[in-house]
Formats: sequence, C-alpha cells, structure tokens
Amino acid sequence: MKYEFLELLINPYSGNELKRENDFLVDTLTEERFTVKNGIPVLLREEEVKDLNKLYQKRYDWLAYFYDFMVGTIGSLFGGKEAFKSIAEIIEVKSGALVLETSIGTGMEIKNLHDKGKKVDYYGLDISYRMLKKCRRNSKKWDIDIGLVQGNAETLPFKDEVFDMVFHIGGINFFNNKTKAIKEMIRVAKPGANIYIGDETAKQIEKQPKIISYFYQKPDFHIYDPPVKHIPEEMIDIVTHTLWNEMIYLVSFRKPE
Ligand SMILES: C[S@@+](CC[C@H](N)C(=O)[O-])C[C@H]1O[C@@H](n2cnc3c(N)ncnc32)[C@H](O)[C@@H]1O
Repeated sequence: MKYEFLELLINPYSGNELKRENDFLVDTLTEERFTVKNGIPVLLREEEVKDLNKLYQKRYDWLAYFYDFMVGTIGSLFGGKEAFKSIAEIIEVKSGALVLETSIGTGMEIKNLHDKGKKVDYYGLDISYRMLKKCRRNSKKWDIDIGLVQGNAETLPFKDEVFDMVFHIGGINFFNNKTKAIKEMIRVAKPGANIYIGDETAKQIEKQPKIISYFYQKPDFHIYDPPVKHIPEEMIDIVTHTLWNEMIYLVSFRKPE
C-alpha cells in the first residue's frame, strides 16, 4: 500500500479514522474490521451492496477477465481510442496533484490521461474486486503507481477535501443513487478542485452492436442523461460536453473555494 494511503482513508459507514492491524484496517472508535486483500483495502460491507450496485458488481467481477479485450481491442475497431482521447483532451491533470477516479475499473482511463512528464498521485476506487485486481496488474505493467481501494462510489472511504481533482467515467448511469455519488465526489474534493463525470449517451446504446447493448440497455432512456440535475447549485462552471459523435457525455464543474 502507498505509505500515505492510510492517512486518506476512513470507515465509510462511521466516518472514523482507521488504523492498521496486520491484514486489517480497523475503525479507531468502533473497532469495525475491514480486510486488506492482496494490498487492496476492502472498505465495503458486502451486505449493504444492493440492487443495481449489486448487479453491476457481479457483472464486472465476471467481465474483468474480458474487459480490456472488449473495450481496448474490440472497442478500438469501433473507434474507441477516439473516445478515450476526447475525454483526455478535456480532463486536466496537474503536476503534483492528488487525483481520484471513482469506478476506476481496470485503469484504462488513467493510462490515457497519464503524462509521464508529470508527477501525479493517483487513487482509484471500484466496487468490483476483480476489476481492481486487473487494474493493479495493469498499473504495474504501465509503471503507474495507483492506490487502489474496493468501495462503493456512493459512500466513499476517503476523508473530506483531500483530492485536487476527482473524476468518474463509465458507471454512474447505473448507480443506485447518482445524487449521493456526486455529493461524495464533491465532499472528498478540495475547494477549487475540478470534478468530471462522464458516461455513455442513449445514442451510443442505440448504435452499439446488440450483444453489447443487451448488457446495458434499460427501458428508461433518461438513465443516460448527463446527471446535471444531481449537481448541487452552488457548484460553479458547470459545462456538459458531448464527445465522440455525441456518444459520450462529460460534465465538468468546480467546487467553490
Ligand atoms: C464501464 S466500467 C468503467 C471503468 C473505467 N472508469 C474506464 O473508463 O475504463 C464501469 C465500472 O464501474 C464500476 N462500478 C459500478 N457500480 C459501482 C459503484 N456503485 N461504486 C463503484 N464502482 C462501481 C464497475 O465495477 C466497473 O469497473
């Protein structure tokens, strides 16, 4: 685990600080214990992962084996590289920043954003342990140090106002509670930090090969709307970008100083 990592973490359910005891992180007040699996803290009560979050946790645990091939190799046949590039053109990563990606998956977005010339401290959270395991393998291969934690993006296990930038790509359309997830991204961001939230639009679902859209499609197409109405009105510079032939939305905003 990165040496400063524990300093950033809390028990997401009590908000209390954690201490290390062998292979566990322990709540300093309630003594609740969380495992650290192969270096990845599991800051999640499995019994509280429900509904869509549970469904997608299971799906991504299964998909972890094929995800990079599907999104990287097959996706690039359909112009997927352009999608990553268009996102990376908007998301600003500053040298020396502490950056968090919620729902990091296998880390492909960070790989695309990363500029070897900049020293950036990356952290990533995901609800799927197997996606994180793949991410860890990838990050070693890419030589990018990423502090990983298993958790729910709707209940982040990080202290208030620690990150210089927080972003999320690709999971929020199917979260149980978008408002909560966005509130959490804002809570852990420092005042003045940039926040970015992106996912696929309804147009992408219509255009996707049926085998892929079967996996995602929901009868209510509003699920694919950019989640602007969930952003608190005190946030500033809220902009919705539509990228890659309107198949991806990316909402950017700033937390006031
Ligand atoms: C389409 S993948 C995107 C991965 C990565 N951001 C990328 O762009 O390649 C969606 C990710 O969201 C994660 N996810 C789904 N629901 C989540 C939740 N409630 N909290 C945290 N992660 C979640 C999944 O496990 C999966 O890794």
